[in-house]
Amino acid sequence: MSSLPTIPSATNLVTSEGDENENEEEGNLLEELWPRETKPLLNYQVSFSNGCTVNVPIVQDLMGRRYEMGIGNIVWDAAVAMHHFFQKEFPPGHFQGARVLELGSGTGLVGITLTLLGAQVVLTDLPVFLPLLRNNVTTSLSSLSASDTACLPHPILPPLIEPLTWGQSLPLTSRRPYDYVIGSDITYCKEHLDDLLATLTEPVPPSLPPLPPSLSSTGDTLDPSAPSSSSLPPCKGVVGPDTVVYIGHLERGDEHAFFERLRQRGMEVEEVWKEDVGEGGVARKLWVHVYRSWRNAN
Ligand SMILES: C[S@@+](CC[C@H](N)C(=O)[O-])C[C@H]1O[C@@H](n2cnc3c(N)ncnc32)[C@H](O)[C@@H]1O
Repeated sequence: MSSLPTIPSATNLVTSEGDENENEEEGNLLEELWPRETKPLLNYQVSFSNGCTVNVPIVQDLMGRRYEMGIGNIVWDAAVAMHHFFQKEFPPGHFQGARVLELGSGTGLVGITLTLLGAQVVLTDLPVFLPLLRNNVTTSLSSLSASDTACLPHPILPPLIEPLTWGQSLPLTSRRPYDYVIGSDITYCKEHLDDLLATLTEPVPPSLPPLPPSLSSTGDTLDPSAPSSSSLPPCKGVVGPDTVVYIGHLERGDEHAFFERLRQRGMEVEEVWKEDVGEGGVARKLWVHVYRSWRNAN
């Protein structure tokens, strides 16, 4: 696995082990350097054109960072940027009823944001990260007060949470036509890029059933009329002819190679947004770039 530039190994020192004073000093230093990465609970806001603002609590599993696979346990820089991007760059109501698949949802900030913006979202990740993801989705939506719900300009469509490993055949419930496929900081790990490319560029099956009208956040309530997974051929692709992909990543310098490979596989790609999410921590500037991509019609 490649190094993770904004979460250096020093942050692994935030543990319950060792000398207390030493830990306190380390904690203060870390908090100063990487303010977001040291907090177990973060709060974000989703705002609407009618003046309504809703809080989104996101729990991070800081201990999870001690493990190589702990990457889905914290909020990454591109998630913060895309949380802003989807609120700021589209007209009010744009995502209402839109069918969205999120790849590598991690702690769920972006998928939850789009859910609050009215989209019907399927949040996915490796199975090991689903408990934290499910907890964040459930907590943020169930913590909506009656006044929050009353001020929202549209109903919330309950999201679905699914295991999805890139490059593998999709679970039945992910085989849907999507208006948008999104991902924040999913291109940082070179080892997984071939698999991610397969998920983004392999053909989708010819006729996909639509999402059921009401989705279960546990992922286990399915449309009984849908065919069983055993009756369907394997399928890896999630991007259909009408799907628009948004991928955001922290500027690390080598991302262009991934987007070039997308182009080589018949996708159009353009950069559409850029934001500094530095937050005054160790780096003054942490640029996140957002790209839009879609299947070339030819
Ligand atoms: C850097 S984290 C970003 C998490 C979240 N999107 C964010 O921005 O906060 C990358 C995410 O991709 C997921 N991921 C990595 N490799 C994967 C794979 N082969 N299949 C599915 N998900 C994967 C990780 O579990 C993790 O949640």
